[in-house]
Amino acid sequence: MSRKSKNSPDRLKLKAALEKELEYFEKTHPRSKALFERAKSSLLAGVPMNWMVKWAGSFPVFVKDASGSHFTDVDGLRYLDLCLGDTGAMTGHSPAESVKAIQDRVAQGVTFMLPTEDAIWVGEELQRRFGLPYWQMAMTATDANRFSIRLARHITGRKKVLVFSWCYHGSVDESFIILKDEKPVCRSGNIGPAVDPAVTTKVVEFNDIPALEAALADHDVACVLAEPVMTNIGIVHPEPGFHEALRRITRRSGTLLILDETHTICAGPGGYTAAHNLEPDILVCGKPIASGIPAAVYGFSKELAERISASVSIEECDTGGIGGTLAGNALSLAAMKVTLEKVLTPDAYKRSIPLAKRFTDGVNAVIDEYALPWTVQQLGCRAEYWFKETPPRNGGEAAAAADYELDRFMHLAALNRGILMTPFHNMALVSPASTEADMDEHTRVFRESVKILFD
Ligand SMILES: Cc1ncc(COP(=O)(O)O)c(C=O)c1O
Repeated sequence: MSRKSKNSPDRLKLKAALEKELEYFEKTHPRSKALFERAKSSLLAGVPMNWMVKWAGSFPVFVKDASGSHFTDVDGLRYLDLCLGDTGAMTGHSPAESVKAIQDRVAQGVTFMLPTEDAIWVGEELQRRFGLPYWQMAMTATDANRFSIRLARHITGRKKVLVFSWCYHGSVDESFIILKDEKPVCRSGNIGPAVDPAVTTKVVEFNDIPALEAALADHDVACVLAEPVMTNIGIVHPEPGFHEALRRITRRSGTLLILDETHTICAGPGGYTAAHNLEPDILVCGKPIASGIPAAVYGFSKELAERISASVSIEECDTGGIGGTLAGNALSLAAMKVTLEKVLTPDAYKRSIPLAKRFTDGVNAVIDEYALPWTVQQLGCRAEYWFKETPPRNGGEAAAAADYELDRFMHLAALNRGILMTPFHNMALVSPASTEADMDEHTRVFRESVKILFD
């Protein structure tokens, strides 16, 4: 019998293994457990943010402190952090240069609704990195995406947006739509949509050029909002020619192209856009760009910037709330400046990308050793493994391969052995503060977890 037939582990064995890990987790995290119990009386579901209940353990680990690639919890346990705040801490936790610049700025005033000189340095650096000439700031990538969509609608006079099935761009109402049996449907779990996203949005599978072409043929779509590589349903790479086609078809149909580099900034200092000479009309980036201090940016092509300037009057430029009171504040700008100047530098990527390759090679070696029908994908300093023999071509294929129970086990087994993976899928992000020994430790732990299930 081919060992490849072991598509998933024996479910009873998996269930028993998960129970054992949960028991161990409870026993070793008494302080986190006590804090969680106390939190339930003041915080909805015992957490400050609803996603925090979705970790693999029976309660979240409460963090005490962090530095570089590691953090310590309130029970005194130390972890290698391969989640890094789901990219917000891709710089590594509290890089020394950022701490100093942030402390200095806090002591000199945080927010004014007026620019500081740092804003110009940041604008010029963003120009250099991403190739787009004009920039605006927001507090989060979600906001930057929302503002970009509104501007795209305003400029084109078109109502619709197009996204790829199983995308994620923050709480952007238009984006919670997937293809199910080839029909667009609101994503299950989307809470309180103002309107059915099928009204606002067209959706096609990533890498499906004919479907994209057909969807844009009516010339009623203001913009395509896309990650250049999907990262939120696992890493789904574009096939050769996809980006060329995406740009050609969007241009031909008068549709603006927004590339959301919030996660794909892991591909290099100018994101996937610079690494692959892409030409978006609008580019969005958030999360790690200010070492974890809330900040995001969105940039425009020259042509688009001119169209925006010509169509928004000074008298009305504040009416739609594009921006928000805290956007472009002095603290975020100081944090962005130091992050771009001294932390997320080309040298940092020269460290972190080979480390992610080492992670990927380690996972691959175990997959080969156990002849598992699993696969691992790398994008810059990010890597992800899937319980599927071949890499997914699109969001639908990726979603179909998800295995909630197996995910939980792999996450919890890693956590119990001192490694935090990104929740909800099997993603690892590597900061420049990590070491080869950290990656080898992951390989050891990954192997041990696989051994529990398959030996
Ligand atoms: C590609 C992408 N864009 C935007 C966002 C939203 O970022 P934030 O929650 O910081 O607004 C996310 C969050 O995961 C993301 O993955």
